[in-house]
Amino acid sequence: MLNTASEDSFSEKPTAAPNRPLTPTQRYRPTAPSRARRWLSILRQAMWLPKTLLTIHRIVREDFAPAALDENLWAFWGFHQEIAGNEPYDPHYRARTWQKAQLSAIGPRHVIRGLAVWEMAFMMNFAMESEEPIMDYTQQSGEGFRFLLPALGRFMGKNEEQARYSAEHRLPWCESAWCAEERRHSNAFARMIARLVNISPSRENPNQPMDVTADEHDAIFHIINRQTSEWNASSSYIVMAAHATGDLHILVRNIVRDEIKHLSILSCAYSYLFGPRFWKRLLDCIKLGVANYHQRRNRSGGDLLGSNPILSLEGVAAHLLTALYLTKWLKTVPLRALTTVFETPSRLPDLAAFTPSSERQAEIDETLRKGQQKRVGLARWSPGMREFALAERRFEGRRATDLRR
Ligand SMILES: [Fe+2]
Ligand SMILES: [Fe+2]
Repeated sequence: MLNTASEDSFSEKPTAAPNRPLTPTQRYRPTAPSRARRWLSILRQAMWLPKTLLTIHRIVREDFAPAALDENLWAFWGFHQEIAGNEPYDPHYRARTWQKAQLSAIGPRHVIRGLAVWEMAFMMNFAMESEEPIMDYTQQSGEGFRFLLPALGRFMGKNEEQARYSAEHRLPWCESAWCAEERRHSNAFARMIARLVNISPSRENPNQPMDVTADEHDAIFHIINRQTSEWNASSSYIVMAAHATGDLHILVRNIVRDEIKHLSILSCAYSYLFGPRFWKRLLDCIKLGVANYHQRRNRSGGDLLGSNPILSLEGVAAHLLTALYLTKWLKTVPLRALTTVFETPSRLPDLAAFTPSSERQAEIDETLRKGQQKRVGLARWSPGMREFALAERRFEGRRATDLRR
């Protein structure tokens, strides 16, 4: 049965009829007001800038606190090890619990600190279109990570045989924690937009995700790509949260915390696979983020992105702060914790899938075995880092044996 946290997490009471007469087919599309009105609102936002930056910092400090990030990694472990029916079981492992927010209480007055309401709606529409193709994303990751890091692949989605089997047998396609958490985002954004501008957004999405295969090159590119997406999402939604109050803030903050959970897990996975090369990780994400910037053309009104200098400044500040706090935490997570989290065999039942031929099954088993050998031997780490980490592991192993005697 699918997780229904998405439906339960916010409630909507019947709302008043829109002020403007609308045809049933009319849908919201982002458009900017006149130049003069635009500059006036940018000026207003600039006056609030110091306060907004302080709020962004406060949100990052709270949501990137070491205890919160540790809990995110622990939830990954819980997803694989705590099975429903075995007590004590925390449903939070299946999808992060959201703080209740009331949609009908949300209105334009909840957009604060100088940001124009149309601009908040535009940002949310951009986010909604990026979030929407979740079925494609979950299959990208399920297939992409199946050999690189199987525990992560299972946490994020289904591999090709599993996805095909679900589609042909009309089974639920979204059975991973990552998918259950992500699939609620685009709907939440659509509903918030409708509350802010009094008209529902168009769901005809110009965003088309690419295909990802499980080969090493694709999988490595995909893990950097996913980290970049989670980093961008966390940072830009933090800017939205800094400009929101009341139930709007609560709802946006729920999404922010989901994204931070994904960012912390993916960053730990990257550290486990490639070693603690924090600057290289950050540089890879920045390079990919800049390269992906052209994708704004695949979003409705995407050319408006980057046209508000104050918003751009807030976005850069949020990106820098999230990177700083995340890196500080990553340095505290020891290799033995990462090995336990990512290598302990999952207790989850296997997902239904087409049975491969015996030759293909032998090939899969061999690729999985070699993949684990490569990870445990830290084969992708730089030689210096690897020697140091393996020596430390040997020392810890000897010490544990001595203590047991
Ligand atoms: Fe998301
Ligand atoms: Fe995410």
